[in-house]
Amino acid sequence: MSDIQEKVKELMGYREQARLGGGQKRIDSQHKKGKKTARERIKLLLDEGSFEEFDMFVKHRCNNFGLEEETYFGDGVVTGYGTINGRQVYVFSQDFTVFGGSLSETFAAKICKVMDMAMKNGAPVIGINDSGGARIQEGVNSLSGYTEIFQRNILASGVIPQISAIFGPCAGGAVYSPALTDFILMSKGSSYMFVTGPKVVKTVTGEEVTQEQLGGASIHAAKSGVAHFVSETEEEGIEMLRKLLSFLPSNNMEDAPVAACTDAIDRMEDVLNDIIPDNPNKPYNVLDVIHAVVDGGDFLESQAKFAPNIVTGFARFGGQSVGIIANQPKFLAGVLDINASRKAARFVRFCDAFNIPIVTFVDVPGFLPGTAQEYGGIIIHGAKLLFAYGEATVPKVTVILRKAYGGAYCVMSSKHLRGDINYAWPTAEIAVMGPKGATEVLSSKEIAAIEDEQKKAEFIAQKEEEYRDKFANPYVAARFGYIDDIIEPRNTRFRIARALQSLANKRLANPPKKHSNIPL
Ligand code: HXC
Repeated sequence: MSDIQEKVKELMGYREQARLGGGQKRIDSQHKKGKKTARERIKLLLDEGSFEEFDMFVKHRCNNFGLEEETYFGDGVVTGYGTINGRQVYVFSQDFTVFGGSLSETFAAKICKVMDMAMKNGAPVIGINDSGGARIQEGVNSLSGYTEIFQRNILASGVIPQISAIFGPCAGGAVYSPALTDFILMSKGSSYMFVTGPKVVKTVTGEEVTQEQLGGASIHAAKSGVAHFVSETEEEGIEMLRKLLSFLPSNNMEDAPVAACTDAIDRMEDVLNDIIPDNPNKPYNVLDVIHAVVDGGDFLESQAKFAPNIVTGFARFGGQSVGIIANQPKFLAGVLDINASRKAARFVRFCDAFNIPIVTFVDVPGFLPGTAQEYGGIIIHGAKLLFAYGEATVPKVTVILRKAYGGAYCVMSSKHLRGDINYAWPTAEIAVMGPKGATEVLSSKEIAAIEDEQKKAEFIAQKEEEYRDKFANPYVAARFGYIDDIIEPRNTRFRIARALQSLANKRLANPPKKHSNIPL
């Protein structure tokens, strides 16, 4: 064997060793838990053969607690770049088989390197998390490593899409890197996120909870809203990440890629002419409207289980990505509350940061009344959504399907918040409040003066009818030009698609400033 052959053989040997991470025994143990290894996850995520690895030979530099005797190539995180559907992305995947995926100074430096590369080259970063947190033996060097990552997350926000997958433990301060990214996906059963674990919770508050109850995927999907997507398995989760990326541009200077569209943009949907029930208090499912109008009925919903009274997600019209926000009359009559406002505001801001036009479907009876909401700060949280819509400069197309009452009318991408094209269905009711509430306020003395119950009911019905005739329709708003047109429901797809086409070259900038002061 020549010298060079020897050296190549040695390299191959080292590579082989690096690919084994913490060793076969620990890989087997990972598999036994139903989890994939860091490398298996990258292989599934990226286009076949596209992965280029960095820093395979990095080792930690810690001499505490005998750690100098135990080193592994790669030091617990696999990093590099590759492609997803031909588009470049940067990845890091924490390797639980090496010190439980715990984060050391060198581990952090590897992540920072790919984040810096991603920023320089305008490509998204996907982080796969599966870690026991700070590497205990490294002390403050681990904390500094985390914070270097946080700082990069912050500077990359709004420049490149940042996506986190949680496929194992993610606890303590480690949760804050995913929290600073744009989207979090968790897999059911094997992932959890919390700031303090069950043991600390028990000591401090006396509360007894399991990891799953404290920070499992279902909790973060439905209760906290921390997780945007939840998958049954890692494979399904990775498929969702690939799909999510297909809707996004690579950075804030680009537009999202245009997909091939085989669905006619002038497709009529007759069912939409009958979807609004005659009784204004009866719900329908706004997802039926969304599925009927977008390309191929394909809608990727974000935070589906959290604040279901508002729907957020990605779809396409004529191949062009859009962000969709829709009040959902099926839950709490589609009312705006604290959680719905926070959820939609963040989504609007993401779309605006990444040049994704916003399509809004409105059917909202107003803001949710009550002490729980007021004490929780609905004023500030509702203002977030108002702010987000008003600040957004991307194309904004709005369709009022039914109710658009009060402050909620203003907030939901109205003309007055620089809505570009605002349509209404003939079933729209645009008013300060609903006929029932309005009658109670306007005619309370007359109602109180009627003693006969039958006559009272008839009087109220008559007043409500009068109010409905005057305001609960789209024509008053249309007369003032607040609605650009009243459209036939079955033609909604075509009208939205054309509106978006007309806005393709929209130019609008906000006044120069350091940054705005959104009511956080
Ligand atoms: C060093 C660690 C480690 C850590 C796990 N390991 N966590 N090594 N630092 N933080 C090692 C274990 O010693 C073990 O080594 C291997 O990883 C697998 O761990 P196990 O405990 O055997 O696995 P499992 O039973 O699945 O339990 C996983 C776990 C548990 C729940 C994550 O390991 C655990 O509780 N770890 C400590 C978590 C923690 O308190 N982290 C610090 C949080 S504070 P061997 O050699 O046996 O394979 C923090 C602050 C961040 O993170 C602040 C940022 C600002």
